[in-house]
Amino acid sequence: MSVEIKKRHEERFDRWSKVYDRSVLQMLIFNTSHNMFFKEMAPYIKDGMKVLDIGCGTGKFAYRLCNINKDARIHGIDISGDMIKKAEAKRRDENIEFKVGDVENLPYDSHTFDVITCSNSFHHYPNQKRAVAEMHRVLKEDGKLMIVDGCRDRLLGKVIFGIVEIVEGDVYHIFENELRNMLMSVGFDKVKQRKFNPMAPLLFTMGHATKEKKL
Ligand SMILES: C[S@@+](CC[C@H](N)C(=O)[O-])C[C@H]1O[C@@H](n2cnc3c(N)ncnc32)[C@H](O)[C@@H]1O
Repeated sequence: MSVEIKKRHEERFDRWSKVYDRSVLQMLIFNTSHNMFFKEMAPYIKDGMKVLDIGCGTGKFAYRLCNINKDARIHGIDISGDMIKKAEAKRRDENIEFKVGDVENLPYDSHTFDVITCSNSFHHYPNQKRAVAEMHRVLKEDGKLMIVDGCRDRLLGKVIFGIVEIVEGDVYHIFENELRNMLMSVGFDKVKQRKFNPMAPLLFTMGHATKEKKL
């Protein structure tokens, strides 16, 4: 079942990749989400840091991060091969590695990354707990996980993302408490959450990876 759901997402994003960078949602949601990552990441930025952007789409966030910290080692992964092709097509000489892959089976060694970001992709994952457990596995001890997704804890968000769920099908925008509990159940602590972007309400969540995975 979840294999079929993921196949449908892959095909949908392959199609969307052609016009994705011109979508009105770039301004309304995606750029704003990336700005939130930069703000929250600022205290943790260091030379040589390893960052993984999950559901990286056409690589916009990864390239922006590379401009800010040229010494960072940045990886992007996405289930859509066509999104990754678009990301690769933007490459000049940046030190970024893109891969096609599924969040549920991340092709990276355990304890690899200092920071993981995931912008507006989480609601597509049919096994969200499995996804956060994988994120925890590939983070170093005290590595930071940052997720932004549609916020259904605000009335407007409930309406907007409720409609998105009906139209798109196969997606689920997790509630604030539910995500907090899920992160803590797989070994994250010091979970911090913040609602932002009143025009299209979004939820920022950050967790710190503890050493022991508790799945
Ligand atoms: C709305 S786009 C967001 C792209 C990018 N993060 C941004 O902020 O512009 C969601 C992305 O998640 C990817 N995605 C969906 N399911 C995935 C999965 N199971 N594993 C990895 N990526 C996935 C899609 O292919 C798509 O590129």
